Amino acid sequence: MNNIIGQPLNRVDGRLKVTGEAQYTADIPIEKLTYGVIFQSAIAKGKVLTIDTTQTLAVPGVIDIITYHQTPNLINIPFIPTPTPPEKDDNIHYHGQPLGIVVAETLEQAEYGASLVKITYEEEPPTVTMAQALPEVFEPESIFFGIMPGKITRGDIELGKPQADIFIEQVYSTPMEHHNPLETSASIAIWEGDNLTIYETTQGISGTQKRLAGVLKLPLENVRVISKYLGGGFGCKALLRSHTILAAIASRQVQRPVKVVLTRSQMYTNCGYRSQTHQELTLGATKQGQLTLIKHIGTSLTSIFDDFVEPVGAATTMIYACPNLQVKYRLARINAGTPTFMRAPGEAPGMFALESAMDELAYALNIDPIEIRLRNHADIDPQTGLPWSSKSLKQCYQKGAELFGWSKRHPTPRSMQDGNFLIGWGMASATFPTHSMSATVKVEIFATGEVSVQTGTQDIGTGTYTVMTQVAAEALGLSSQPVQFSLGDSNLPTAPITGNSITVASVSPAVHQAATAAREKLIQMAIADSNSQLYGCQITDISVESGQIFLKPEPSRRDSYTEILQRHGLESLVVTEATSPNPESKQYSKYSFGAVFVEVAVDELLGEVKIRRCVGVYSAGRILNTKTARSQVIGGITWGIGMALMEKTVMDMNSGKIIGANLSDYLIPVHADIPNMEVQFIEEHDPHVNSLGTKSLGELPIVGVAAAIANAVYHATGKRIRDLPITPDKLL
Ligand code: MOS
Repeated sequence: MNNIIGQPLNRVDGRLKVTGEAQYTADIPIEKLTYGVIFQSAIAKGKVLTIDTTQTLAVPGVIDIITYHQTPNLINIPFIPTPTPPEKDDNIHYHGQPLGIVVAETLEQAEYGASLVKITYEEEPPTVTMAQALPEVFEPESIFFGIMPGKITRGDIELGKPQADIFIEQVYSTPMEHHNPLETSASIAIWEGDNLTIYETTQGISGTQKRLAGVLKLPLENVRVISKYLGGGFGCKALLRSHTILAAIASRQVQRPVKVVLTRSQMYTNCGYRSQTHQELTLGATKQGQLTLIKHIGTSLTSIFDDFVEPVGAATTMIYACPNLQVKYRLARINAGTPTFMRAPGEAPGMFALESAMDELAYALNIDPIEIRLRNHADIDPQTGLPWSSKSLKQCYQKGAELFGWSKRHPTPRSMQDGNFLIGWGMASATFPTHSMSATVKVEIFATGEVSVQTGTQDIGTGTYTVMTQVAAEALGLSSQPVQFSLGDSNLPTAPITGNSITVASVSPAVHQAATAAREKLIQMAIADSNSQLYGCQITDISVESGQIFLKPEPSRRDSYTEILQRHGLESLVVTEATSPNPESKQYSKYSFGAVFVEVAVDELLGEVKIRRCVGVYSAGRILNTKTARSQVIGGITWGIGMALMEKTVMDMNSGKIIGANLSDYLIPVHADIPNMEVQFIEEHDPHVNSLGTKSLGELPIVGVAAAIANAVYHATGKRIRDLPITPDKLL
């Protein structure tokens, strides 16, 4: 059989994307389209007193204006629609809170109309900073919509204290950060009677369909969600957002299609963000570097009206073998929107703290940073006691060290120099859980030789179209060429959200199973057909190649998909298969792992940190496409560099307004900031996670990068920066 899985196949949609033929949500041409522009609160706390729409309605081309009085609750959209959705009122809880939408014939008319909406407020001083919020801190019992506990312990922290020779007790902090996908969020809503079609920038078409149907009180089948291409998402397109509800309601009101495209600035107020975190971390260890206790208390911020915890202790519970552990979360409220998932929610800021602290411990005990991690390597999941489904973290350390040249590192801070630059080498571990969900896939093989594979998954930009095409092609014994993979339509068989790094692990087994079932059906048809050269053969003796079915011991005896179908007078053969997570996999703890190494050059006079080299080695199960996987990894590391050195959302103390809600003031890396990266995968075929042996990859590579950089900066300068981002002022 041909091996397409694993090959560095170019993106099957690459040509469409670079030629501009791929239609992203905002590009879809729609007849009789109107344009919606959302208007928002100009205060962060208080009440709306009056809304005067007279001037807006007088603007030529303005068709209508809808205020929040005519909509469901726009700020606290329930994760799962509940029979009693939260009450809405005139209260303002954050700057930029959506208050309504203006619909016009052109975008410019709608923008102008929205600028003329006159709103009066009763204003109160907002709560903006963590210090202001902290008096009312609370400890949630459960987090993440009730699916994770708010407190995790093992052993007894007190018992770990007398066993320790040394303690690292520090506070690490990370700022508010915003997702900035290249494509801003957009919706186009079209009604036909009571049926709504919505083109949407969503990571989850079926979740959007469910939640939107719930909010609009429509039967599920009346809502169709389409999302063919996404220009990134990173978590900010995971949940139903106000712009989608407003587009749907406005379109129903004006009886025409309505398009809403968020501005870059609205991406900072309408789509969630990563909360600021304050992390109190204590490590206790023996002189030999053996951890005796870990205590990790994460404080993060949420909105006035909803709870979202940044679960910074997620990796802390499982990454090192330590008998005594306590993780807990504290939450306080500010006048901002509700935070949400952002690439590796929890692990990204949490591992900045833990992996910085491990480095501090390594220096304090004069043990090599890799060695101290090996001494605390968890051979089983220390929290659950379960064996790992697969784990190659040691190989990641070893391979990474080798590629990086770690053995040439002089351990003393400030000991490596290059001209005016202080050189530093740092490393950190990475991990992310592997989850999966049920998926259904329809495969249709046509007598023309073409193959259609369909499922309602999404391509967030990472290559779902490509890798699923590879999986189907391999199972069918075809090249990728005849396979047409379709996704992004709630009318297709259901697949889960593209989030939590679950797409490959959930959807590829279903694609493989459906394609394999289709192949076997055709083989059965051939061996039962007296006109086939394979008549009466054993199925186990048969193989497939290039759409040809042949007898392995006698390869000249063959038949083809197209001929079998034609002889049977069939236009096509359809197979639909559903897969669910393997129940046996519950007996294992399932994670991907990695190790990241960086070299920094610090200009001490300017305080500037340049990343010179970066090596990342990952063990993430079977890799379906080494090219798209590498791209995903270099994207994650790049974001990690941004997180370490640049990213920070600033809110104005007095107004609660986000300052610099754009891509020129909110700094993210550009090409000149990013070094050559060497990315390698440790070959793994995890037999427990799913039939293809794949694990999670998407979120993994941002994890650990900020710590590796902070550790390298310490090695270069002797300055330990525990507050991100590591900006020049902190190094001067
Ligand atoms: Mo991811 S933060 O689950 O989109």
